[in-house]
Amino acid sequence: MLDQFAALLTEVVDGQRNFRDTWVPFSDDPSLRIDDARLRSALAELQQKLHDNYPFFHPMYAGQMLKPPHPAAVLGYLAAMLINPNNHALDGGPATGQIEKDLVADLARMFGYGDHLGHLTSSGTIANLEALWVARQLHPDRAVAFSAQAHYTHARMCEVLGLRAVEVPSDHNGRMDLDALNALCLSEQIGTVVATLGTTGIGAIDPLPRLLELGARHGFRVHVDSAYGGFFRLIADGSADGVAAESFAAMSRADSIVVDPHKHGLQPYGCGCVLFRDPSVGRFYKHDSPYTYFTSDDLHLGEISLECSRAGASAAALWMTLQVLPLDAHAGLGAVLRRCRRAAIDWAELLRTSSRLSLLLEPELDIVVFFPETTERSASAISRRSDAIFERAMNDRDNPVYLSKFRVKTALLRARYPDVRDDADWTTVLRSVLMKPEHADWVERIHQRVEEIAEEAASAA
Ligand SMILES: Cc1ncc(COP(=O)(O)O)c(C=O)c1O
Repeated sequence: MLDQFAALLTEVVDGQRNFRDTWVPFSDDPSLRIDDARLRSALAELQQKLHDNYPFFHPMYAGQMLKPPHPAAVLGYLAAMLINPNNHALDGGPATGQIEKDLVADLARMFGYGDHLGHLTSSGTIANLEALWVARQLHPDRAVAFSAQAHYTHARMCEVLGLRAVEVPSDHNGRMDLDALNALCLSEQIGTVVATLGTTGIGAIDPLPRLLELGARHGFRVHVDSAYGGFFRLIADGSADGVAAESFAAMSRADSIVVDPHKHGLQPYGCGCVLFRDPSVGRFYKHDSPYTYFTSDDLHLGEISLECSRAGASAAALWMTLQVLPLDAHAGLGAVLRRCRRAAIDWAELLRTSSRLSLLLEPELDIVVFFPETTERSASAISRRSDAIFERAMNDRDNPVYLSKFRVKTALLRARYPDVRDDADWTTVLRSVLMKPEHADWVERIHQRVEEIAEEAASAA
C-alpha cells in the first residue's frame, strides 16, 4: 500500500482535473500566480521546520495520544480537500454531507444506538461542549458532575456554559467513586453525570452500568465521554486481547456519547463526534439562517451543530478509512485495537516482574502507567526519578524512547504500594499510550530501554 502511496496521491490530484471538465481546484488567476522556485524553497524550509517534532510515527514514541493518520485517511482527506467542501450545510458540501450522515449512523450503530442525532465535530472538546450544552438546555438549574480523572475541559466547558460543575472523587483504580456520587446526589441537584470510558491519564473506565442505575434513581442524565476509549467498544468482549464488556455494552443506554476518530480512528486532527440517543434534542439547535439552507428540506448538519464551518474532508477521510478498515470486532479497526491492547497487556506483565520499574495500575485499555523503584520509597523520590528518566529517555541521542509524565494523588499509589512514604500529596509517574498497533511487537524493546535508562538515572542520582 505504502509503495503505491505516491502514485495514489498523484491520482487524487489528477482525478480533480476532470471535475466537470474544468480544472477547478487550482486557479490560474494572475493574482494567485507564484514563483515556482519560491514555492520549492518554502516547502524545503517547512520540511526543515517540521523536523522540530517528536517522532510520533515511531514505535519508540510511546508518550502522548499521538500518531499519524492512516494513508487511506490522507488520500480521502486530500481528495475532498482539493474541493474544500464545508459540512456546515448540504449547500456547502452535498457529497461529504451525505457521507457524514452515513458515517455517523455507523458510529451510532457501533454503540448500539438505534434512532439518534449526531454529527462530526472539529474535536472531542467541542463534541463534549455540545453534549453539555444539551444537558444545560434540559436541566438549566442543575449541576454537571464528572470524576476527578475526567478530561480537564469538562470543568472549563461548564464555565463557558455557566453550569455548576461538581468533581466526584475517583477510587483507587482511577474510576469514579459511585458511593461518593450517590452521597453527592443527596445534597446537590445533579442534572448530568459525565462517565469517562477511557480516562486521558490512565485509560480507566467509569462503571457505567451502576452509574446508569444511579441515574435512574436520582433522575440525572448520563453523558459518556469516550473521546479516547470509544472505539474499544469493538473489542469489548472480555477476551484475552479484548477489554471488559460491561461498561461498553451499557453505552447504548447513555443519553449522549462522544468519540474522537482523530484518536483511535486513525484520522488526522479535526475529527470528533457527538451522538444523542434521543433525536428530539435537535429542537434545541433550531435557528434560522438566511444564507445557507437552500438545497434540501432535510435537517442540515449545520442545524444540528453548534459549529458553523467544518471540513467536509474529515468525513471523506474517515469514510475512506472505514472502507478499508471497517468497524469490525476482529478485522479492520477491531484488529488494530487488539494489537494496542496486546501491547499494554504484555508491558504490564513485564512491569510486574521488573525490579526497576513498577506498574501503577492494571491497564484497562492501552495506556500503561508505571513508576521507577527508588531506594528511598517516598512520593518525592519517585517524582524526582520519574522526571530524570523522562528527560534522559527523550534526550538520548542514540537510542531515545519517548514517554509522558502523569501526576497522581499519592493516595492512589499507596493503595497498591502502602510502603511508599507520602511526603507529598502528588507523585509524578511515567505514562505510555500504546496506541500504535506496532507497539505489540515493540514493548519488549521499549521496556528494556526504559529499564536501562532507569538504571542510569539511579546511578546518576
Ligand atoms: C477522555 C477525553 N475527553 C476529551 C478530550 C479532548 O479531546 P480533543 O483533544 O479532541 O479536544 C480528550 C483528549 O485527550 C480525552 O482524552
